[in-house]
Amino acid sequence: MHFKIRPAKKEDCKEISRLIMVSRSNVELERDGFCENPFFQCLVAEVPEEHKSKEGNGIGKGLLCKVAEVGKKKECVRLQLSVLDWNTPSRDFYAAKGAQDLTVSEGWHAIRFDGQSLDNLANEAAKI
Ligand SMILES: CC(C)(COP(=O)(O)OP(=O)(O)OC[C@H]1O[C@@H](n2cnc3c(N)ncnc32)[C@H](O)[C@@H]1OP(=O)(O)O)[C@@H](O)C(=O)NCCC(=O)NCCS
Repeated sequence: MHFKIRPAKKEDCKEISRLIMVSRSNVELERDGFCENPFFQCLVAEVPEEHKSKEGNGIGKGLLCKVAEVGKKKECVRLQLSVLDWNTPSRDFYAAKGAQDLTVSEGWHAIRFDGQSLDNLANEAAKI
């Protein structure tokens, strides 16, 4: 195995911010993940330069297994994630590792409030 999986450090936030494709800057990630009661935890795979390739060297499986291990130690009973419909390589990968597709088996929809709809909900709270 030519990589090491370890808990993320504050210094990793710039790279994490680039990878996660949501509007969270490295400064916000540093604040939210490395405070007294962090909102999230993160693992990173450290790969020596000479072993870097796009995929297929066990890193995806390594990260998934490590997340499962961390969860089990905290007595979690499920590992749930979101994957886009078109991302068949990832969907096939999760299926090959034993995941069920809840959209297929149970018809779940992903529901989100953000921007104005989230503001509206929060503002309504003051009137309750
Ligand atoms: C899908 C992805 C996570 C797989 O990670 P990877 O590092 O390429 O895969 P690994 O080398 O860890 O594969 C390990 C195992 O999974 C299997 N596997 C990998 N890709 C697979 C696929 N598309 N379908 C079925 N099995 C797959 C391998 O055959 C191997 O099997 P083994 O455990 O029996 O040896 C990776 O290709 C990826 O990061 N894709 C782009 C980013 C992305 O979309 N991530 C998911 C967002 S939801």
